[in-house]
Amino acid sequence: MAMSLPLIFLQLVLAWLLGAAAMAASQALPGCENRCGNVSIPYPFGTREGCYMDSPFLVTCNKSSNPPILYLTLSTIEVTDIFLWGALRISSWIGYDCYDAQGGPGDEFTTWMNLFRFPISNTRNKFTAVGCDTYAVVNGVQGRKYTTGCLSLCDSIDNVINGSCSGIGCCQTSIPKEVRSFNITFGSYENHTNVWDFNPCSYAFVAEEAAYNFSSLDLANLQNQEKLPVMLDWSVGNETCDEARKNQTSYACKENSECYNFDNGPGYRCNCSKGYEGNPYLSNGCQGNHNF
Ligand SMILES: *[C@@H]1O[C@H](CO)[C@@H](O)[C@H](O)[C@H]1NC(C)=O
Ligand SMILES: *[C@@H]1O[C@H](CO)[C@@H](O)[C@H](O)[C@H]1NC(C)=O
Ligand SMILES: *[C@@H]1O[C@H](CO)[C@@H](O)[C@H](O)[C@H]1NC(C)=O
Ligand SMILES: *[C@@H]1O[C@H](CO)[C@@H](O)[C@H](O)[C@H]1NC(C)=O
Ligand SMILES: *[C@@H]1O[C@H](CO)[C@@H](O)[C@H](O)[C@H]1NC(C)=O
Ligand SMILES: *[C@@H]1O[C@H](CO)[C@@H](O)[C@H](O)[C@H]1NC(C)=O
Ligand SMILES: *[C@@H]1O[C@H](CO)[C@@H](O)[C@H](O)[C@H]1NC(C)=O
Ligand SMILES: *[C@@H]1O[C@H](CO)[C@@H](O)[C@H](O)[C@H]1NC(C)=O
Ligand SMILES: *[C@@H]1O[C@H](CO)[C@@H](O)[C@H](O)[C@H]1NC(C)=O
Repeated sequence: MAMSLPLIFLQLVLAWLLGAAAMAASQALPGCENRCGNVSIPYPFGTREGCYMDSPFLVTCNKSSNPPILYLTLSTIEVTDIFLWGALRISSWIGYDCYDAQGGPGDEFTTWMNLFRFPISNTRNKFTAVGCDTYAVVNGVQGRKYTTGCLSLCDSIDNVINGSCSGIGCCQTSIPKEVRSFNITFGSYENHTNVWDFNPCSYAFVAEEAAYNFSSLDLANLQNQEKLPVMLDWSVGNETCDEARKNQTSYACKENSECYNFDNGPGYRCNCSKGYEGNPYLSNGCQGNHNF
């Protein structure tokens, strides 16, 4: 009896180690790069031909920078996380529109992004503008064409409320489904002349809702933040599960997985069936979880 407890413990540790090794190994195709810096690259994404499912899933790893940076296809859009459940996080520049004390033009940066086949997650992101003489407009160009924006006015920093983005110093609006590119443009009523001493610039960005919390300090210079995270959705194929299943050669959901129709554009997603874990896009990627 005295021997069996450590033995059981050892077995559990071994099972766990083997399980963890299988999981780590199974995320990319054999012989393919499975990480770039600390970002893991699960199939269908890959860094070269033969490693990704099809060209939209190409990501490139720049190892000259330290730490290495992962880019979406051949763009300069930085990928910071890839989630197998069908999302990916990128880092996006904050746009700004600044004035001098007389209302003359100052620094300006307009954000423009083409996200290829990846729609912005309509549930996890918001369009936000910060400023006291500010309106900002976001245009969807590819995917669904749309225009929306918001307006924020205030005449004193004393009126703004920390943590509340509801039109005083900060305004927010939601992003519709199927938006795969956007640009942001700015407008102002008085060129910030009435608020210039505490708010010389307007700022605007599309970003994960949870990543931004408005503070009155942001009116001065957005506290020197330059980039914010954006969540994109991904799916495979361009047909529904029912259509995709008809061709088992091209059907992306492998053994022990389920297919889900995508709700933010064409295509579908795969998920390991209950009791299985791993990468459903790889053959035998979903492994039974038999540890206990
Ligand atoms: C990667 O490392 C950076 C800092 O070095 C950290 O901020 C980030 O959260 C890490 N990402 C992951 C996916 O671990
Ligand atoms: C890779 O990173 C280095 C250093 O940051 C930079 O000079 C170079 O332009 C980058 N290459 C590409 C292809 O982005
Ligand atoms: C932004 O998108 C709109 C709508 O497609 C377009 O008219 C405008 O020229 C774009 N602006 C920039 C700066 O790309
Ligand atoms: C946002 O900031 C306010 C105060 O500045 C704080 O009370 C609130 O908890 C913060 N919210 C989040 C989600 O971090
Ligand atoms: C604001 O600036 C624009 C050019 O940047 C100029 O055409 C306009 O007259 C200015 N308006 C005011 C109210 O200063
Ligand atoms: C908002 O929070 C910042 C930092 O916590 C603080 O310095 C500032 O006075 C607060 N502003 C308001 C309007 O409460
Ligand atoms: C779906 O994708 C296939 C292969 O990528 C392509 O041949 C086909 O034209 C696409 N169908 C539609 C409706 O876009
Ligand atoms: C099934 O998919 C494969 C691989 O994409 C393709 O070569 C083949 O033509 C497809 N078959 C049919 C019947 O569409
Ligand atoms: C995918 O599978 C995991 C684990 O079985 C489960 O937690 C998750 O809810 C599933 N996702 C969907 C969309 O059903």
